[in-house]
This record gives sequence, C-alpha cells and structure tokens, in this order.
Amino acid sequence: MNFLDRNEFNFTPSQEVIDTIRNFDIGKFCFYTRIYDEGKKSIFSVWLSEKFGIPENQILLGYGAEDLLKNAVHYFLTQGDNNRMMIPKFSWWYYKSIADEVDGETLQYPVLETDDSFCYDLDGLKEMIERVHPRILLLATPNNPTGNGLTPQEIGDVMKMVADDTVVLVDEAYASFVTTETEYIKTLTEQYPNIIICRTLSKFYGLPGLRMGFGFSGKSTLMDKFARYANKYLGYDRLSEEVAIAAMKSDEHYRKIADVMDEARKMYTEELGCLPGFKVYRSSANFILIKYPLEKKGDLQKAFVSEQYKVKFMNEPDLNQHMRITLGRSQQNRKVCDIILSVCKQ
Ligand SMILES: Cc1ncc(COP(=O)(O)O)c(C=O)c1O
Repeated sequence: MNFLDRNEFNFTPSQEVIDTIRNFDIGKFCFYTRIYDEGKKSIFSVWLSEKFGIPENQILLGYGAEDLLKNAVHYFLTQGDNNRMMIPKFSWWYYKSIADEVDGETLQYPVLETDDSFCYDLDGLKEMIERVHPRILLLATPNNPTGNGLTPQEIGDVMKMVADDTVVLVDEAYASFVTTETEYIKTLTEQYPNIIICRTLSKFYGLPGLRMGFGFSGKSTLMDKFARYANKYLGYDRLSEEVAIAAMKSDEHYRKIADVMDEARKMYTEELGCLPGFKVYRSSANFILIKYPLEKKGDLQKAFVSEQYKVKFMNEPDLNQHMRITLGRSQQNRKVCDIILSVCKQ
C-alpha cells in the first residue's frame, strides 16, 4: 500500500540519521539521562537552545508536536475561567478534540478561499479576537489541510491584536518547507511573553515514527509554570534525542526531498488544474489540496483502492469535494496523477 493520506515520509532518512541509530550505545538505555542534574531537559533542548539562540528553559519538548499542543491546550484552558480557544475554520481536527477533552469551547475563525489558495482574514480575525477574548488563539502556519500560512511579520501583527492573557499557540509543524530562516522565532519569543511556537521532526525531517516535537515559549512566570508542567522529570527517549539532532543537522538531504515535492506540485497544477471542476491549491507543505468534481468521488475512491494508494478524501462542511494528497516519491506522484486523470479526463 502507498500511504499518501497522513503527510508521512515516503523517502529515506539522511545518512546521519541512519548512522546515529546504527552507532547508538545501547548502554544509555540502562540509565536515565543525567542532564537533569544540570537543570536541563535533554541534550536535544540544549542543542536547540544553541541553534535558535533561545534560553534552554524556554525550549519545550514533547512526544511529537501532538503532545505539546495537547499539554498547552489542557493547561491553559483549565487555568481560570476562560476556556475559549479560537482555531482556523478549516484545520487539523485534533485541535478541537483536545479542547473537548477538557470541556473547552472551540470557536472557528475564517479562512477565505482565493483564486488559487486560501488565506487568513486578518481584519476578521482582529474583530473576532476583540469580541471573543480567547484564552488560546491557535495559528497554524502552514495550515493543514489548506496549505496557507502567515509570514513572521503577520504573526507579529496578530500578537499585537491579542490581550496579554491570551496565549498564542503557533503550530509550525510544516514551517521548514516554507523557509530555512528561523531568526524570527527568537525575535518573537523575546518580544512576546504569551507566545508558544511548536515544531516537529515528523514532517520536513521525515520522522513521524520518532515522536519528537519541540517548541519555544516566550519568557514569563506563566510560561515557566507551563514548561514545568509539560516537562518530563526523568528525561526523554535517549535514542530519539540523538536522532533528532542528527536529522536537524542534515538539512541539505531534506531540502533535496522538498525539491522533489516542489516538482510534484508543479505537475499536479499543470496537469489537473485545467480540468473542468478541478482546482489545485497553492501550498508549501508536504501535501497538496485538490478540489475535484464531487460526482467523481466514488470512481476516484475505487481507482485508488485498486491501485493500492491511499489519499485523504476530505469530508467536512465546505471542504467535502477536496482531497489532500501527501507528496511522495516522483513515481508515486506520477501514479496518483495518472489515477486521477484516468477517472476524470473526458
Ligand atoms: C498541523 C499539524 N500539526 C501537528 C501534527 C502532528 O505532528 P507530530 O507527529 O509531531 O505529533 C500534524 C500531523 O499531521 C499536523 O498536521
């Protein structure tokens, strides 16, 4: 089966990652890390602190970004009496699910459709923030499944819209596909005490099975308390922390893979974008969103099953004639395009 439905990685890890796993000293599993004695979380948080120029105590680690997001949502929605979280109208289903787990109220802010993309409506967002006064404002950039995002400048503009007691949780799971520039993370965390930016090894660095996510928080007493809440006192998986560092040291390998994905984006846009009833949305993540004529859904689903390919057919209000396709190896992308053409080209 070809899994192109959950934004996973259909390529090979970098040589540094492979070597780190092969050469790992198994003896390390017999002991907890001793780094706690130095007041640090992990060799990975220390490494991130140096790479991003952000103090180690403002680095968060989690079992995937999933874990960080869940910890943040559970923590902030259950402190005090404001349990409202604003999320994008179309977004990862998990945000609402984790808010529901603690009886949080989720309110959706608009994501507008444009000619070839989606975009956030910053004026609409500002109006809604003032009306709702959320405890958490969740920004996803790039957003899953719509693929649109915010520039660092726009994230700064949004920070200025919120009250001091609103925590802005920025999910940047796919951000490394957009740019290698990360200086803005330091700037934002220095400027705003109420920001948390989450990233992951699962997407650009192709290690969803590693379950390693990391984040950066602003500097405040509240964030210190949250960091203690989210911290694992006895440390993190000692193999995962080494593998994570190895992956993030091999940007060049992963950038080449991102180039293969760019080629695929071009192919889908050129070959499907002009078909009647189709729209291929602009995106810079490891997936692409495609609108297709709804009457073809059954035939498309059958064709994908018979060719042993899995893609994600969206099924939510106003986003139900769309499929989200993970960008894979060139021959997989070619095959998916051919399957769609065989069903939909007159
Ligand atoms: C927007 C977004 N954030 C976070 C995640 C989860 O990342 P992780 O594997 O690090 O938990 C996903 C996974 O698909 C995602 O789409």
